[in-house]
Amino acid sequence: MKAPANVLVVGGAGYIGSHACKAIAARGDVPVCFDNLGAGHRELAKWGPLVVGDLGDGATLAKVFRDFRIDAVMHFAAHAYVGESVTDPAKYYRNNVASTVTLLDCMRKAGVDAIVFSSSCATYGIPDSVPITEDHPQRPINPYGWSKLMVEQILKDYQQAYGLRHAVLRYFNAAGADPDCDTGEWHDPETHLIPLVLDSAMGRRPQVAIFGTDYPTPDGTCIRDYIHVTDLADAHILALDQLRRGLGSLVFNLGNGQGFSVREIIASAERVTGLRVPATIASRRAGDPPALVGDARKARELLGWLPRFQSIDTIVGSAWAWQRRVAAIEPKGAA
Ligand SMILES: NC(=O)c1ccc[n+]([C@@H]2O[C@H](COP(=O)([O-])OP(=O)(O)OC[C@H]3O[C@@H](n4cnc5c(N)ncnc54)[C@H](O)[C@@H]3O)[C@@H](O)[C@H]2O)c1
Repeated sequence: MKAPANVLVVGGAGYIGSHACKAIAARGDVPVCFDNLGAGHRELAKWGPLVVGDLGDGATLAKVFRDFRIDAVMHFAAHAYVGESVTDPAKYYRNNVASTVTLLDCMRKAGVDAIVFSSSCATYGIPDSVPITEDHPQRPINPYGWSKLMVEQILKDYQQAYGLRHAVLRYFNAAGADPDCDTGEWHDPETHLIPLVLDSAMGRRPQVAIFGTDYPTPDGTCIRDYIHVTDLADAHILALDQLRRGLGSLVFNLGNGQGFSVREIIASAERVTGLRVPATIASRRAGDPPALVGDARKARELLGWLPRFQSIDTIVGSAWAWQRRVAAIEPKGAA
């Protein structure tokens, strides 16, 4: 039997990172969570040791590599508010790009040569057509998307020059929560549609805003691809396995392959909760494409990835179970 390996999970106290930690532990490895708890929660870092520190702090990171004999890295840490990235790009380029270079240089010094990186469909910008394949041109339309694309480029250059192997995973909209309700989405402020809709259903927010009802989609509202966060975590394990086999320069879209409109999400939430979701119509937001849907066939074919939670009601139902748990912890919520 192989000895457990220590996988450094940067941003492991956040939403997707905590699900990855659970998946790593389920495989018999040890997730070493490194997080500054700026957006993460100590309560979600429960599948291995937690080191509280900042990605930009090379000395602390180097000590983590020494203390834990790290085998590979999963990198989830980033600021991820698109609107804020437009008004404060320095914050995004410093945290998402410059601090990632610090991480990569620590990896080189420690002789660790495998990293799975959280990229985003935001690197595609406004797509020419959907579903989007990995070879679709990448033309980000905001600093957040650029910060992810810049890291993708840096990873290619580090692989070429230093042999640091990477798997870039471009997520569409992460959604849902751990089926055992051990972890889930817990953002403040929350900007993602499903938790906003569920908060409105339970009265933690007065209503949810539908931004634009005149898009060229069947019901006029924007269509997005919601991928269950546990399926994302599974894909990270499969990507890490590929890196351990010596492969590198891997790039995969991770999406459900089906899109759901804002109105369809609201309808699903009403079915799942049995509650009415109060909604208001607002004008379109700048830079919102009518439809963003990913083609994830490459991950299915090359990684053997099989998403398990594809039904939208299952995704929303798992988020609903988690949301009620968060509401019990934070009764006033972020309304
Ligand atoms: N949630 C989505 O739908 C989605 C979609 C595409 C890509 N992504 C990317 O996936 C990753 C994870 O997203 P998430 O929704 O779990 O976000 P999240 O905010 O819940 O988690 C990010 C974690 O990183 C930590 N962190 C941020 N900067 C740090 C730093 N400098 N040092 C140490 N820790 C730091 C935060 O405290 C937080 O725990 C991000 O890189 C995000 O850009 C997310």
